Parts: sequence; C-alpha cells; structure tokens
Amino acid sequence: MNVHVKNNVYWVGKVDWELRKFHGDEYSTHKGSTYNSYLVKEDKTVLIDTVWKPYAREFVDNLKSEIDLNKIDYVIANHGEIDHSGALPELMRHIPDKPVYCTASGVKSLRGQHHCDWNFQVVKTGDKLSLGEKELIFIEAPMLHWPDTMMTYLTGDNILFSNDAFGQHYASEYFFNDLVDQSELAVECMKYYANILTPFSPMVLKKINEVLSFKLPVDYICTSHGVIWRKDPAQIINKYLEWAGNYQENQITVIYDSMWENTRKMSEYIVEGIRQADSKVNIKVYNIAHSDKNDVITDVFKSKAVLLGSSTINNGILTSIAGLLEEMRGLKFKNKKASSFGSYGWSGESVKMMNELLQKAGFDLVGDGIKALWTPDGEAEKACIEFGKNFAANI
Ligand code: FEO
Repeated sequence: MNVHVKNNVYWVGKVDWELRKFHGDEYSTHKGSTYNSYLVKEDKTVLIDTVWKPYAREFVDNLKSEIDLNKIDYVIANHGEIDHSGALPELMRHIPDKPVYCTASGVKSLRGQHHCDWNFQVVKTGDKLSLGEKELIFIEAPMLHWPDTMMTYLTGDNILFSNDAFGQHYASEYFFNDLVDQSELAVECMKYYANILTPFSPMVLKKINEVLSFKLPVDYICTSHGVIWRKDPAQIINKYLEWAGNYQENQITVIYDSMWENTRKMSEYIVEGIRQADSKVNIKVYNIAHSDKNDVITDVFKSKAVLLGSSTINNGILTSIAGLLEEMRGLKFKNKKASSFGSYGWSGESVKMMNELLQKAGFDLVGDGIKALWTPDGEAEKACIEFGKNFAANI
C-alpha cells in the first residue's frame, strides 16, 4: 500500500499493527508502530529510508508495484538503526550500484550491521543534492536518535524528513496528524519523547534552534514513525522545545513494589499525607510489578517529584525497582526531587540504597526517606502521613 503525501512525494513504508515491544523489551508499543519510507519522484527519483528487516521482502515487492527499481537514482539513509535500514540489503541486492547518501557515522553503522560495501556518498549539514527544479538539503542530527542520524529537507515542497525526531510508535490507517485521534496522538508523542529522547534533550534544543536559524519553511514533517505532520507542524516542534527544557507538571508519582503489602500500605499513608498538604498536586501511584514501565517513565517525565518504595530483600531492593532505577539513570532526568520508603523485618537497607541510586540518577533528594518495621502500626501510619506532608511541603 502506498499513500500520496504531497505533489510527487509518496509514503511507501509499512504499518506494523501487531508490534507490542520495540528495542527488545525496552519499549512497549500498545498501538503498534509504522516504519515510514518515502519515494520522491522529481526529475530524479529518490527513496528516503526503508523499513524493519522482517518486512524487507514485502517492502521491496511493494516498491516494485510503484516504480521500476532501476529508476531510483538515489537512496537516502537518514539513520542506520535497523528499523529504518533493515530492508536496505534486500533493496540493494536489486540496485547494487546506486548511491546511498548518509553521514560518515551512517557508513560505520550500515557497514557494521549489514556488512555491506555499497556506493556510499557521505554528506554533511548544508550539502545539497539536485533533483531537477527541487533539491534535497541534508542536516546532520546526531543523537536524534543515534550519532549517525541526519534529516533531509526537500525544497519546493518544504518537507522535512525528520527520521526518529517528532515521531510516535502509533499505527494508524489515517497517516496524517490531522486525521487521527488527537488525545491518542498526544499520549504517544509524549511517551516517545520521555522514553527515547529525554537523555538527548540538550542536543534536541540545540538542533531545533539550529534548524530554525536556517529559516527553511516547513509545511510538512515526514517522520520515520507514526503520523506525518501536515496540519500546523510547528506544534510538535514547540512541544519538543518545551519537553527538552527539563519539563515538569504539578505532579508527584509514587512507585513501589511490595512483598507482603506493607510497603503498599506505606504508599497509601504517604499519599494521604501529600493530599493533606497539597490539595492541587496531581498524584499518580503505581505498583511497578503490575505496571508498564514505559507508562511509568512517562509519568516520571511529567513529575516534579517521585517517591520510590521497596521492601528490603537480601540486604537490598526488589529487582523491579532496581530495573526502574537503572532506566531512570539512563534517561538523565533533570530538576526533579525524590525520596524513598520501604518496610523491612530484619536488616532494612532498602531506603538507603534507593536514596543512593536516586542521587546517582540525578534526582535531588528530599530528606532521608522513611522505613517501617514489619507491618505498619498506628504509629507508623502517622509517621508515613507526616512524611508525605513534609515531602509535599518541601518540593
Ligand atoms: Fe527508529 Fe533510532 O530508530
């Protein structure tokens, strides 16, 4: 299936309705995803990006229904990750001598993954490729989302092929941002930024400001995942500028795991204290063992403060919380407060350990956290409520 985008530009990618996990088990894709590839048929014909490897044969067969492959003059590889380059080996088997345009790091990435020796043409920011009346302008975009990434701009049609940036893991039969459910789209955009792009926020800010300084008109943003932004594409650029600036809302997220319900009870008393101290703050509560970790991370992204809870086990913390802390460390959140809580029966190291890991993950600690011995009694309940009140008052 191919979709007309604008003038001589066509979407020739793959809608992956059944995808539920991406990057191994790292990212949940409740709504599937798309791998967007674009065909530009000007005086010269260009293919921009391909699809994930399992769909390589289907992709090439579909492309053949749209065009004689030998009529493709240039192949653009904006990014080497295999959700975009996975079908390149199958394509290049048919057109082995056609030039493949990518960054210098793109050559390393494509060679390293596909062990190929294609006709690479290395480009840098500002390099141009004539298609006749229109031209492509290349813009290196390292860390959006890998060091090799670049964007490609098509003059005349004013289309920015942005690759991963501004995307969503969101399968839809409608293809364009103005046609899909707006609340679903908003949720998937934020989840994608929070879970994938947060650690690169300084580069996101720098790159967007650089691209804006080129003063190129942008009528469409053709991403490599999810919908094409054709109605008010500036809205997603502005969202990225907001999200990249140490984003937070008036929210506290409480995340715990509990062996025998005691740490869960503590979480509920603490939430009661937060609510007593602040009637307006939005509070989200998750048992991480029963929750989707990417949804939890999206709420961490939205929060001004988080509270982590874990029972003590084997002189340490539960592995579900340890995994979440590792995720939080890697995402390099900034300007967020935190503390921790947990029940114990014997040694009681969990709170100290969570505090240390929170600090290493870049969170600003508020107080020392709170422990409760065995099942929280009336005194422990009061102490937890008080802890919640003080936490809310100190963030
Ligand atoms: Fe969609 Fe970084 O690949």
